[in-house]
Amino acid sequence: YHMYKILEAGKLAGNIYQMVVEAPRVAKHCLPGQFVIVKADEVGERIPLTICDYDREAGTITIVFMPIGASTEKFAKLKAGDSFRDFVGPLGCPSELCEEANLEETRKKKILFVAGGVGTAPVYPQMKWLHEHGIDADVIVGAKTKDLVILEDKFKSVAGNLYVTTDDGSYGRSGMVTKVIEDLVTKEGKTYDHCVAIGPMIMMKFCCLTTKKFNIPTVVSMNPIMVDGTGMCGACRVIVGDEVKFACVDGPEFDGHKIDFDGAMKRQTLYKTEEGKALLRLREGDTHHGGCGNCGGDK
Ligand code: NAD
Ligand code: FES
Repeated sequence: YHMYKILEAGKLAGNIYQMVVEAPRVAKHCLPGQFVIVKADEVGERIPLTICDYDREAGTITIVFMPIGASTEKFAKLKAGDSFRDFVGPLGCPSELCEEANLEETRKKKILFVAGGVGTAPVYPQMKWLHEHGIDADVIVGAKTKDLVILEDKFKSVAGNLYVTTDDGSYGRSGMVTKVIEDLVTKEGKTYDHCVAIGPMIMMKFCCLTTKKFNIPTVVSMNPIMVDGTGMCGACRVIVGDEVKFACVDGPEFDGHKIDFDGAMKRQTLYKTEEGKALLRLREGDTHHGGCGNCGGDK
């Protein structure tokens, strides 16, 4: 079988790791917004991770992650020269903003990206793609503190305006990303027709409340609620408008103004325990997406 060699591995900041992995097939086909499922060894769990960059010629994918469990802890210990057992992808729907077919429309828009914490990583390929197509969007990059700001130089090379902000004011502007959105729109004369917010759930929730006030359509990425990434576990069930969706199959991107964030966050907490899972099963039935052909999915 094939192994996926790690060419570079290191810390980007704090507890945030970056790796460049040899995966030519994924690198050839992936588009911004998509993710991969990674497995360290035979016995390891499959973990969905967002794609931070890709190089089609070199055949490499860059991933950025923060260890949050046994498997991602294991990933963090791997070094250049080691390999992943599985590196499956690209998965999920590509970002609509980065579709050739929409290019004419996209060119007319003033676009704002809002990137928070580790969620900053998946914003980069979208902005890079747009830059390569002559569109330089603005971006707000938020982090708790100076040492946790990531990818600043990469963003500089593809952004129209880059606004870095830290919660504690130790670098760039001061305050959360939502404050910067407010300031740009109400005090600095900026107007935007489209926003993409990617980061922790709570950040995306408050970004959507803010952009709703200013009537800026907003897309969010629901990667944080995924568990197996294959449509089978049911973890990433989310209500969008009046529809049931699964982030890993129907997303990860959705219209943020239609998402029930509070419901999704409550569900995420329940999903963490067996008791909580049982409660969800009782309330919702077997809520996996299906796609396996063995049942009617969520219907
Ligand atoms: P963090 O807690 O440091 O937050 C990042 C920024 O979000 C903050 O600097 C702040 O500007 C903003 N923010 C946080 N709370 C806010 C609030 N209540 N209102 C307005 N803005 C707020 O982020 P972290 O610790 O790096 O985040 C890790 C999380 O990112 C994990 O939960 C992970 O699941 C998620 N993540 C998301 C994606 C995605 O695709 N959406 C990808 C990777 C990681
Ligand atoms: Fe398991 Fe989507 S992550 S169903």
